Amino acid sequence: MTHVITNQTQPLASMDEWEDDLLRRYPNPEDIATSKATEAYRNYEEPARDTVKEFYRLNHTHQSFAFVKEKQKEYLSFSRKEMSVWDAFDFLNQLVDDSDPDTDLDQFQHLLQTSEAIRRDGHPDWMVLVGLMHDMGKVLCLFGEPQWAVVGDTFPVGCAYSDKIVYPEFFSENVDFNDARYNSELGVYEKNCGLRKVDMSWGHDEYIYQIMKNYIPEEGLYMLRYHSFYSWHREGAYEYLLDDHDKAMLPWVKLFNPYDLYSKNPEPPNWDELRPYYTNLLKKYLPETLKF
Ligand SMILES: [Fe+2]
Ligand SMILES: [Fe+2]
Repeated sequence: MTHVITNQTQPLASMDEWEDDLLRRYPNPEDIATSKATEAYRNYEEPARDTVKEFYRLNHTHQSFAFVKEKQKEYLSFSRKEMSVWDAFDFLNQLVDDSDPDTDLDQFQHLLQTSEAIRRDGHPDWMVLVGLMHDMGKVLCLFGEPQWAVVGDTFPVGCAYSDKIVYPEFFSENVDFNDARYNSELGVYEKNCGLRKVDMSWGHDEYIYQIMKNYIPEEGLYMLRYHSFYSWHREGAYEYLLDDHDKAMLPWVKLFNPYDLYSKNPEPPNWDELRPYYTNLLKKYLPETLKF
């Protein structure tokens, strides 16, 4: 397997560090019961915390309204690559965590464990597909995007930043912070306009949503598009931007989140046994190739 060593000047040793940090912020309730979570928190080394903090400093400084518009223009013509989903998984798997290859699962394993946990609980097959595809947008890294434009909690741009977003103090470095067009509660938006009219910070959620938007039910599209929008689905912020449709979709976004966060298992699923099921699933919903 090809190892792509991410740019050494980037703060995170691997993008998984952001997800490890999510687990510290939102521990699995089942682990709290067994005190596993507090142990994990205690083992959380200062240097790791510093890299995550530096990652958010960059993210909050650079994710401005203008930046997001530029990335939408750059990526949403889907003229970079056309691949079968299988080839896309291989492509994504070039992102390997070089810091700790023994314990960390590759990207595909995380996707498969998420989808398998969803399947085990008897949810609709399109939700299984969401599990399988939800982090595919991380290929943005392989197109040269820095970590802070691929992963991290997402949030609306073009209006005031919520203090429910992790490390809100770093937003003072963003060009939009003192821009009167963008720093009021509603900014460029109308009250309760609905999230579909709101531009989110650029990253892997929005990108995979845009790639998948013609193929799966609306509930699944919300899961893809907002799975990293923690200040909304975990903290309840941005009430004033929501419409009734968003409120109806929120339980689905919440339903998906634990499968993403808590399905990691050191035992890899038996892929040979699973392959026929997933081959059929992909055939049912997706065309032969996807455009990136
Ligand atoms: Fe994700
Ligand atoms: Fe994920």
